[in-house]
Amino acid sequence: MELIKNWTDELRYQPYYQWDKQYKQLLTETVNHSKWRQHYHIQPESGLLNDPNGFSYFNGQWHLFYQAYPMGPVHGVKSWYHVTSNNLIDWHSEGLALLPDMAYDSHGVYSGSGIVVDGELVLAYTGNVRDQNWQRKSYQMLAKMNPQGEITKADKPFIPAPPKGYTHEFRDPQVFKYQNQYWLLIGAQTDQSEGKVLAYSGDSLENLIFQGELHFTNESMGFMVECPNLVFIEETPVLLFCPQGLDKEVLDYQTIYPNTYIVAKEFDTEKLALTQPTSLKNLDEGFDVYATQAFNAPDGRALAVSWIGMPEIAYPSDQEGWAHCLSIVKELKLKNGHLYQTPVKEQAELRQEHTMLAGELTPQPTTLLAKTNNCYELILDFPADSQGKLHLFADQSLNHSMVIDFDTKNGMIKVDRTNAGSPFAEEYGTTRSVSVEKNQPLTLQLLVDQSVCELFINGGQQVVTARVFPGEGEESVLIEGAGSYTGDFWRLRKMKND
Ligand code: FRU
Repeated sequence: MELIKNWTDELRYQPYYQWDKQYKQLLTETVNHSKWRQHYHIQPESGLLNDPNGFSYFNGQWHLFYQAYPMGPVHGVKSWYHVTSNNLIDWHSEGLALLPDMAYDSHGVYSGSGIVVDGELVLAYTGNVRDQNWQRKSYQMLAKMNPQGEITKADKPFIPAPPKGYTHEFRDPQVFKYQNQYWLLIGAQTDQSEGKVLAYSGDSLENLIFQGELHFTNESMGFMVECPNLVFIEETPVLLFCPQGLDKEVLDYQTIYPNTYIVAKEFDTEKLALTQPTSLKNLDEGFDVYATQAFNAPDGRALAVSWIGMPEIAYPSDQEGWAHCLSIVKELKLKNGHLYQTPVKEQAELRQEHTMLAGELTPQPTTLLAKTNNCYELILDFPADSQGKLHLFADQSLNHSMVIDFDTKNGMIKVDRTNAGSPFAEEYGTTRSVSVEKNQPLTLQLLVDQSVCELFINGGQQVVTARVFPGEGEESVLIEGAGSYTGDFWRLRKMKND
C-alpha cells in the first residue's frame, strides 16, 4: 500500500468512516516518521490543517479549533479539530469536534469563531454544501459546547442564505459583542464578483438582522474576502482579513493571497463603518501566513493565531502525509497607530538552556551556533549602521540555508529562502523584503521549530513567517558582516500535550 497521490473529488469528500483502517495506519506511521514534525507548534496529527477557528477562553481554559482534513495533505471534507490549553503554549488534543455529518455541512464544516454566551461556548461556523451540479451552498450554523465539553449542533442554520445580491461565496462568521449587541462579520462576494465584509447584529445570535456592507476602504478588495476579524486594541478597532484577487496596486504582496489589516478610529455602528481607516497593510511580511484569527481575551489582551500555510500550494511535507501548522499565539498591540505583534509572554516558559552571545561580525561567515536541533529561540541585537547576513537552517558549507540579510544603515531586511532546504512555492518568489527605520539599532527575535521560523523584527513591528524544510544536518546558525552583535539563545522544550 502507498499514500494516495491522485486525489479525486470523490476521495476528498468520502466520509472519514469509509476510510480503511490499514490506510489510516500507513498514513499515521508515515507522518510520525516525518523529519519535519515540530516540537512546539500546533500541527495536524495527519493530513491537512488550515485556518484557526473558535479561539476563545471558556470555563477556565483556552480553546482553539482548526480546520482539519485528517486523511491526507489536501483540502478534503473539513472538520473542526479541538485543542485546549492552560497557558497558550502547551496544547492538549481533544480530537475532532465538529464533523461534516449533516445536510447543512455535508461538504465541510468551514471556518468560524467562538463566543461565550450564558455559560456555554457558542461556535459559529459555515456549513459548506455542494449540490448535484457541484454548486456551492453556504449555511451559517451554530453549535454549543457545555462546560463538560459536549458539543451540540443546531439542526438548522441561523443564517440560511446570503442576502440578495451576494453569492454563496459567503463564509467565516466572526461573532462578538459590542455595545450590548451581538455582531457578526462575514466574508462575502457580490453578484458582480467583488469581495466584501457583511455585518449582522441583534439582541441574540439566533436573531441577527442583516445590516449591510461594512465600510473600511474605498479600494476594491478583489473577488472575495475570507476570514474577517474585528478586534479592539484598547478600544481601537483593527480589522484583519484575507482579500483574494487583490490588485497589487492597492497593496504590494507576493503570496498567492495576502492576509491584511487596517486600523481605524472607531466602529461607527450607525454608519456601519470603520472610520478613518489606514491604508491596507500586510499582517505578515513573510511567505506563509493566512487566515489569522484574533479575539479579545477576557484578560484584556488581543490575541491572534495564524494558519502558517497557503491555499492552493504544494508543500514538501505533503509527501510525508501532512501539511501546515498554526503560528504561536501572538499578542497584538498598537504603538503610534502601528500594529505590533509579539509572542505572548507565556512563550518564554518554553526556554531551557541559555547561552549569551556577543561578538564582532566578520566578512567570512562564522558559526554562531552549531547543533541547534532547529528548536530554539534566538534574539540578536545589532547597533545602528550594521550590515550582514544571518544563516539559519544552515549546513557548514552554506550550500543550504535561509538567509536574513540586514542593513540597518539603509533600513532593509531581506529574508531569502532560495537555497533553504527543499524548494517549494518558488513561483511566488523566494525572497521577502522589509523596510525598517534607517540608522537605527535592530532586534531580531527568531522562533525556530524544525520546519518553521517566525521572525519578529524590532519588538514585533514587523513579522516574517516562513516554512523551511531542511535536509539532514541543516541546523546551524552562521553569521557574517560588519559591526557587532549581542544576543541570547535558548533551546526550547517541546510542547506538553498530555
Ligand atoms: C480560508 C478558507 C475559509 C474557509 C476554509 C475552508 O483558508 O478558505 O474561507 O472557511 O478555508 O477550509
